[in-house]
Amino acid sequence: MANGQEKEAAGRAAAELARDGDVVGLGTGSTAYFAVVALGERVKAGLKIIGIPTSLQTADLARAVGIRLTTLDEHPEIDITIDGADEVDPKLNLIKGGGGALLREKVVAFASRKMVVVADSAKIVAVLGKFPLPVEVISFARGVVERKIVSLGASPKLRTKPDGSAYLTDNGNQILDCSFGEIADPPALALALSNTPGIVEHGLFIGLASVTLVGRGDRVEELRR
Ligand code: 5RP
Repeated sequence: MANGQEKEAAGRAAAELARDGDVVGLGTGSTAYFAVVALGERVKAGLKIIGIPTSLQTADLARAVGIRLTTLDEHPEIDITIDGADEVDPKLNLIKGGGGALLREKVVAFASRKMVVVADSAKIVAVLGKFPLPVEVISFARGVVERKIVSLGASPKLRTKPDGSAYLTDNGNQILDCSFGEIADPPALALALSNTPGIVEHGLFIGLASVTLVGRGDRVEELRR
């Protein structure tokens, strides 16, 4: 089955997990898209939820499909978040941020009682690191952060727009895509990055995912830690 169908199957299965009254974190990307659309269909059928989007793009989509939105100030505790991932390892550690929304995605995941990851089968890996790790930096610190990332073993590459200018996140920051190759110790790398001034956030999500729903062929598999 094509990746698109696996993404849709996983996204739709995750949308079935929301319950009346839930505050729902709404992820970003092409897999989370299907979950948001399916949640919108359930809202039209009577489901009562309120959403917290992880990006401006998802906020637009949620409004378009009829999901009422709120903020973390009003609802700092989220019942369930549904979000995609670029890679998922056997411990459900993740690389995220391919779509540039890693900072808000991590805040929302952290605030959630349950984080449901939705993915197609190509995202499931034995070891994280083939996908370049996105690292969000303030532009002032970029040179310093690049040197630190090189010392940690990767070659950072500034994410750019098609016109060659720096890509900016919803928070006005830049992203360095960092090819580490196989990451032997994800928690240790996460700590080293978090301890580097100028890094606003990185795309290693350690211990945040509760469950992963994987579209595989015509089935949806559930992975737990
Ligand atoms: C956005 C993300 C996405 O969830 C991740 O890139 C996966 O995207 P897709 O579902 O389109 O493959 O982290 O910042």
